[in-house]
Amino acid sequence: MPDPRAIHNLALVGFMGCGKSTVGCAVAGELGFEFVDTDALVEAEAGIPVSEIFDKAGEDAFRKLEREAIAGLETRRGLVIATGGGAVTFAENLASLKRHALVVCLWANAEALHDRTKHQTHRPLLQQENPLEVIRALLAERAPHYKKADVIINTEHRPQRVVVAQVKHQFEESSGGGTSPDSAAVS
Ligand code: S3P
Repeated sequence: MPDPRAIHNLALVGFMGCGKSTVGCAVAGELGFEFVDTDALVEAEAGIPVSEIFDKAGEDAFRKLEREAIAGLETRRGLVIATGGGAVTFAENLASLKRHALVVCLWANAEALHDRTKHQTHRPLLQQENPLEVIRALLAERAPHYKKADVIINTEHRPQRVVVAQVKHQFEESSGGGTSPDSAAVS
């Protein structure tokens, strides 16, 4: 029999604006877990906001810090981790997360993501003339990566408390039941 995955943590992945931080914070509270946000870890390491890292050092420098932040979580337990929207487009980040966490993708379509992000200014990749077009293109490019999550939860037209309950339920099923998630369940 293959070794069951060691699920000690929960990682939320998905596009900018899909709700990883708000949902993650709420799920962490319900599970009694610590909430960590990889963007916050990167900012703490760099000493400047993500937008400034992009500005001053470029996206590659940000991705390096992000990779190190994610790798640094492998030995920790009892975490709910919100990842940056681009993190799991790099295979090594997804592989790292899957070594210790149930990876749950929060899904929403481009229009919903645009609605949720259009008044925010802290995401360098969306500070463009036509952010909806950027979101459509990036989402299409990233979707195959997001679909490699263990579980995909559609957040469209669902109140946040329902999404929180679903994420929590999926985590309890996989960590408590001792199962080995190996394919994405969509709910
Ligand atoms: C990014 C998403 C951001 C942040 C950075 C790059 C991306 O995080 O990591 O601006 O490539 O999608 P959020 O998804 O939390 O906004």
